[in-house]
Amino acid sequence: MMRLVLQSLRQTGDLGRILGRMAERGDVILLHGALGAGKTTLARSIASGLDVPPECYVTSPSFSLMLEYPGRMPLYHIDCYRLRGEDDVEESGLMDYIVADGLTVVEWPDRLGGLVPAEHLDIRMDQAGEQARKVIVTPHGRRWLERMDALKAACGAASILVEN
Ligand SMILES: Nc1ncnc2c1ncn2[C@@H]1O[C@H](COP(=O)(O)OP(=O)(O)OP(=O)(O)O)[C@@H](O)[C@H]1O
Ligand SMILES: [Mg+2]
Repeated sequence: MMRLVLQSLRQTGDLGRILGRMAERGDVILLHGALGAGKTTLARSIASGLDVPPECYVTSPSFSLMLEYPGRMPLYHIDCYRLRGEDDVEESGLMDYIVADGLTVVEWPDRLGGLVPAEHLDIRMDQAGEQARKVIVTPHGRRWLERMDALKAACGAASILVEN
């Protein structure tokens, strides 16, 4: 587990680009946090780190459930906010994109219940000021565990405050 403090919108951008550059095919990133915490904002910079062209502006997929963007691998940006639970998720057809041939980023992943894949990176964002955000990053499974040192180093190099 790693605790970060993002002091500005720009630092959220830095974190997202780091994650996008580190992403490997089949990765899953789950974004937890309240309304307005910054999940979609982080997803937008993850897209940038994945080389999704700037003209493909990443917006909230809350009504479409899933939006796909072309990068060095596909980005599947999912928002489960409007789903009530596992049954809804199964009916929605989203499971085809939860573990896929690119990077999957999910907002409101608590709706997935027992459908959460074993290998994923959990990111919890909490508002701590107008632009300040507290972030807890937790790897689940070998894929992300192996990259935690590199992720920590990249955050430090980008002057993101890494606690403990
Ligand atoms: N450090 C920061 N990181 C992320 N967003 C920030 C930051 N500082 C300010 N903001 C602002 O906070 C808002 C976050 O909105 P965003 O849509 O990303 O939240 P969200 O977590 O996706 O919400 P929702 O649950 O409604 O989808 C944006 O207006 C953004 O500009
Ligand atoms: Mg959002």
